Formats: sequence, structure tokens, C-alpha cells
Amino acid sequence: MQENFSLQPYNTFGVAAKAKYFVESNNIEELKDALTFSKEKSLPLLLLGGGSNILLTKDFDGLAIQLNLKGISEEDLNENEILVTAKAGENWHEFVMYCLNKNYGGLENLSLIPGNVGTSPMQNIGAYGTEIKDVFVNCQVLDLENLELKNFNLEECRFGYRDSIFKKEGKGRYIILEVTFKLTKKDHRIKTEYGAITSELEKMGIENPSIQDVSKAVITIRQSKLPDPKIIGNAGSFFKNPTIPLVQFETLKSKFDNIQGYPNGNVVKVPAGWLIEQCGWKGKQIGNVASHKLQSLVIINATGDATGKEIFDFSTEIINSVKDKFGIELEREVNII
Ligand code: EPU
Repeated sequence: MQENFSLQPYNTFGVAAKAKYFVESNNIEELKDALTFSKEKSLPLLLLGGGSNILLTKDFDGLAIQLNLKGISEEDLNENEILVTAKAGENWHEFVMYCLNKNYGGLENLSLIPGNVGTSPMQNIGAYGTEIKDVFVNCQVLDLENLELKNFNLEECRFGYRDSIFKKEGKGRYIILEVTFKLTKKDHRIKTEYGAITSELEKMGIENPSIQDVSKAVITIRQSKLPDPKIIGNAGSFFKNPTIPLVQFETLKSKFDNIQGYPNGNVVKVPAGWLIEQCGWKGKQIGNVASHKLQSLVIINATGDATGKEIFDFSTEIINSVKDKFGIELEREVNII
């Protein structure tokens, strides 16, 4: 247990906020000890995974726990499918690479997403036409109300776009300990519908891609426009892509004829990156904070010295200008602490 501990290396924005107490938990017993300590001292809790989806706007006056549970196990289901379980502290991308090395299919489109396995169900991580709900079977959690273990299956997680029960009614109540995925061993379902993947595979000269090829294409695309948090502090997409009613989209279309949208019934998902770029934010810097020059949905700690408050205020200005120009209210994807 450490006191007045800098969380700078534990959040991918690289913000220099401190936690009153900090501890690493390598197994469930250590985690339970830490929880007992926080209860005795009535300390608020902050669970850290890869720190890739949080913005620390101030020092944290409680106990920050870094979940370090490690391990991967496998259970054959049938000739075609396998269940693979990873503990919460496994790095997401390393886990995806582990599966690809064994030729297990299903996670390849989710290559290079920052963060750990344990936080993947929180916001149902997704990219390039796949979300974890497509391969998710079960997660084991610790219920903070009674310190008992509990399982959530696919239905119980109530996954939505960047959403789950763990961000809603279950918020703050459960700690995800391990996640089980159902992957394919052969006859993989290759998903290349997302435009950028098709053109990247064409560039690579590949006609019948393997799951490893899809992963390579995704890695190339991500590296070409998303900043590496090890070099420039960021938390990926800062906002969700908003969903608006079809009628509102049609009205906007008559004013902004190049507006993009992905219709789904009587709603349309609009790319927040496009809206933000249209408001002149792409590459714009104020003080230590900027919108990334290649993907305006990503806010960066441009100088490395940004405070969480500065980043938050910058995001508020973006929200206000998108609201003024398009009448659409952007919602933050990143957890604000
Ligand atoms: N666009 C712009 N300007 C920009 C950025 C994007 O006009 O500055 C346009 C693009 O030209 C494209 C459209 O917006 O037509 C969509 O862009 P992109 O394919 O880059 O995807 P996105 O909607 O901006 C989402 C996810 C990403 C994920 C990609 C690929 C959200 C909030 N973000 O971004 O997820 O990698 O799709 O599937 O859904 C993350 O969550 O941290 C993340 C990076």
C-alpha cells in the first residue's frame, strides 16, 4: 500500500494526478484485503485496468487498485470452437496476439485496442465491424456488496454500443475478474466489410485473407491514424458517435449535403469525428491539449503537461461548438473521474 501515489504511469492520458492510497492486487485474496482496507477507512475506490479509458480531472481522495490478475486458460468445445478465458489483468492486445498465434478466430478486428481484458466488457469494446459481444460468453465478477463471486452471461451483460450493465445499474458494484470468449479453430468468419479493411487488404495484395491478415490490416490502419498512447497521451475516441432520429438527419442533410451517417431503422449514427472536424477542431491546440490532426475524435495531451481539468474543459468546448452548429449533443466515451 502506497500513499500519495502518482497515477501518471497508470492512465494513458499521462495526467499527473495522485491517489491518496494505491495498491496492486495480483490475486483475489489481495484484492479482498484491499477492499477491506477501503471499507474500514470509508475510502472511495478507483479500479484501474490499462488506464486507457479514464480522465483524472483531480487527485483521487481514495484507494486506487491496479488489478493485475494474470493467466489464460482454454477449454475445447467441439471440432470448430474453443472457449478461451483470460484474467482481467491480461493486456488486451497481447491476448489477441496469443489467440492469433494459436489460430483462434474472432478477435482479429479488435487488434491493438489499448487496455486490459477486464475492462473490455465495460464498454463492449469495438472496432472495424466487431464488438466483444460477438464472441463473449461469460465474465466472472466480484460483487462489492457481499464480496461473492458471480457470473454474467451475454444476455445479463446487456451490451450496447460502447455500453453494458457495468456502466449502468451495475456501475461501481462489480469488479470484473476474468472474461471467457468463444473463438473458432477453423472455418473462421472473416469480417472485412468495414471499408478501410477492404482497401488496406487490397494494398497488401491479399485476396483471401486469413485472420492474421485481417489483424495486420487493422494494425496498419490504427497505426496510420490513431496516436500511440506511449508517445502521445490519449484515450482513443473521446466521444461516442451520436445516434440521431432519421428526420433530424434529413434536415441536416439538406443544410450540409456531405454529412455522413449510418442509418439503422429510424435512427442514424453520425461520425462524431466528422462533426468535430467540420467545427474546425481537427489538429487545433489550446494550451497543452489538442484534437489529433489525423482523427479529430481523439483528444491528445499534446505537450505531455496537460491536466485532466484542461482536457475536460477542451472537450466541453468541442461539445458546445458541435451543439451550436449541428444541434447534436456529443456524449463523452471516456470515464471522467
Ligand atoms: N471522420 C472525419 N474526420 C475525422 C475523423 C473521422 O471526417 O477527424 C470520418 C471518417 O472519414 C469516416 C468516419 O468519420 O468516414 C468514421 O471514421 P473512422 O472509421 O475513423 O471511425 P470512427 O467512427 O471515428 C470508431 C470508433 C473507434 C474505432 C473505429 C473503427 C467510436 C467512438 N469510435 O471511430 O474506436 O477504432 O470506429 O471501427 O465508436 C475507441 O473507441 O477508442 C476507438 C478508437
